[in-house]
Amino acid sequence: MNRSPLSLRHSPRRLRRHPAMRGMLQENQLIPADFILPIFLVEGEGIRNEIASMPGVFRHSVDSALKLCGEAVARGVSGVLLFGVIAETCKDACGSASWDKDGLVQKAIRAIRAAYPDLLVIADACFCEYTDHGHCGILSVDGDRDDNATLENLQRQALSYAEAGVHVVAPSGMVDGMVSAIREALDAGCHGEVSILSYAVKYASAFYGPFRDAADSAPQFGDRRAYQMDPANRREAFRELDLDIAEGCDMVMVKPAMPYLDLVRDLRERCDLPVLTYQVSGEYSMLQAAARAGWLDLQRSVLESLLGMKRAGADAIITYYALDAAEWLG
Ligand code: PBG
Repeated sequence: MNRSPLSLRHSPRRLRRHPAMRGMLQENQLIPADFILPIFLVEGEGIRNEIASMPGVFRHSVDSALKLCGEAVARGVSGVLLFGVIAETCKDACGSASWDKDGLVQKAIRAIRAAYPDLLVIADACFCEYTDHGHCGILSVDGDRDDNATLENLQRQALSYAEAGVHVVAPSGMVDGMVSAIREALDAGCHGEVSILSYAVKYASAFYGPFRDAADSAPQFGDRRAYQMDPANRREAFRELDLDIAEGCDMVMVKPAMPYLDLVRDLRERCDLPVLTYQVSGEYSMLQAAARAGWLDLQRSVLESLLGMKRAGADAIITYYALDAAEWLG
């Protein structure tokens, strides 16, 4: 039967015709305060080296990172997430450079806190950038990770970030017990004010490829499947979440973002903690590559990807596009 469109009782499109109607009814919005910018730090001065696999992202010496922080503040970005990239000669089997009180990240934390008191300073807590073998902790003789020894070093690292003035410690090594170990160390060291953002649900993902280039943190042998999660699993994420909550984390993260938005929604519905998601290096690079080839409109596709994360339930988003997105939002 041929019906005239005018006789439609239910027409979702009625509400899409007028731009003001669309604006009024938009269910989710992006704002610059949603974003956290990851920064790769290197020793030296005046250094700003582009990362080959992440065009548009640079490794910065602390002075150059400060300029980036200034832009983040000017554009309303909430915070920065710091990663230290150190020389091969400074690495050892346990990653001791990561808890040096004059280490790279510690220096950056102090400088950023002093220059930009309004900016949230978050430090990634892990060892893969600091160990000579590139794994996220200490290895035992059989090549497996020794989690107990790793936890002790994680406490040292977290405490030294806290002493430098970090606001948030973000453990990313998928070590069982990492949240309670860090909480204990922070509290014992009189840093109860420092919060913990747990990489609670972190998958063993191919999308970290460019990061390992950027941070020079690729494992020298094997992979991270003995500690990061299997991309096939969902229930396992709920266990990770429940454990981290029981251990006292303040915020949880799902990582990567785009292929795991179902988990963002799941976590949003299963807990009342803030849920963050991390649009990782490979997600950055694939959008960048397609845009550079002229296949995608960068601005529209990046903003759409970020809006999808908000729609899935993310309270905040860690993204290498933080500065661009904040500018595009005006
Ligand atoms: C450290 C860490 C990684 C990332 C964040 N923290 C690498 C890894 O687990 O191999 C990846 C971030 C990105 O790809 O942008 N463990």
